[in-house]
Amino acid sequence: MVVTSAPGKLILMGEHAVVFGKPAIAMAVDLRLRCSVERAGRYTVNGHPLDRRYHSYIVSAIDQFWKGGGLDIRTIGDLPSGSGLGSSAALTVAFVRAIEELDGKYDEESVARRAFLVELHVQGRASPIDTSASTHGHGILISGEGNDPLWTIELGDRRWDVHHLDVPQMSMVIGYTGIHAPTGPLVAKVKRYYDRTNFAKETIEEIADLTEEGQTRLKTGDVVGLGELMTRNHKLLSILGVSCPELNRLVRASLPYSYGAKLTGSGGGGSMVALTDEPERVCEAIRRHGGTPFLVRTGVEGVRLEK
Ligand code: MEV
Repeated sequence: MVVTSAPGKLILMGEHAVVFGKPAIAMAVDLRLRCSVERAGRYTVNGHPLDRRYHSYIVSAIDQFWKGGGLDIRTIGDLPSGSGLGSSAALTVAFVRAIEELDGKYDEESVARRAFLVELHVQGRASPIDTSASTHGHGILISGEGNDPLWTIELGDRRWDVHHLDVPQMSMVIGYTGIHAPTGPLVAKVKRYYDRTNFAKETIEEIADLTEEGQTRLKTGDVVGLGELMTRNHKLLSILGVSCPELNRLVRASLPYSYGAKLTGSGGGGSMVALTDEPERVCEAIRRHGGTPFLVRTGVEGVRLEK
């Protein structure tokens, strides 16, 4: 039996724009998904027969990357599905890591590439940010600048250079709305808007500019500047139509005690993140406004073999 685990992530800046090949910053968080895999006579997931509808990520990974026959797969974790915290990426990465182990040929870059292909297949459109952050851990910077990327992924006219990012000590609170919001439809919605209007194209460019500035603020440890950029990023995401009243409420509730706050991940529900040095007060404000707070540790290890 092989047991692996992979972390969820938060996107500090640049979600959605990254799907168009723009820069983004993500961090692995200490909410992990554990996956155990054992050879078996047939395919089961948590005791149920493998089902294309309910286990789409696992089915896609098996179709593309596993020739070895039946598997007994078990998953357990701290990451609510559709929470914007990278639960599907963590599941995919942990499973792909496990089958590479069974095949006797594990390689970090290969896990990141394969997991991206699985997300792309299931969601229809995706960037490699979630799967790269869950594979590599720590921080991830997607940018066209800087040399020596961990890996480069190209798709049509889009190119993502994935870089390691050292994550400075920062206190971050996540607020989960409790609303399950799958990524695929939100990514498709932004694409339709982008194809139809110049306004959406300009908004994506503005997010890209903010994210580049955010990279500089992060490097210099300017939390005040970074927080402001995050809040502006949230407004631009709202303009793109991926926020919702519950996310806006949690962002507003956090701001009096934060440097900045924004939705994180694909939006439409899911979660927001606040950069703060008053985490307890932010947690309390989120709770008061109907959300579930998580005080997370960032910059944690990526996918790993547990057993
Ligand atoms: C989802 O966590 C991030 C998005 O940018 C989608 C993607 O990059 O694949 C919304």
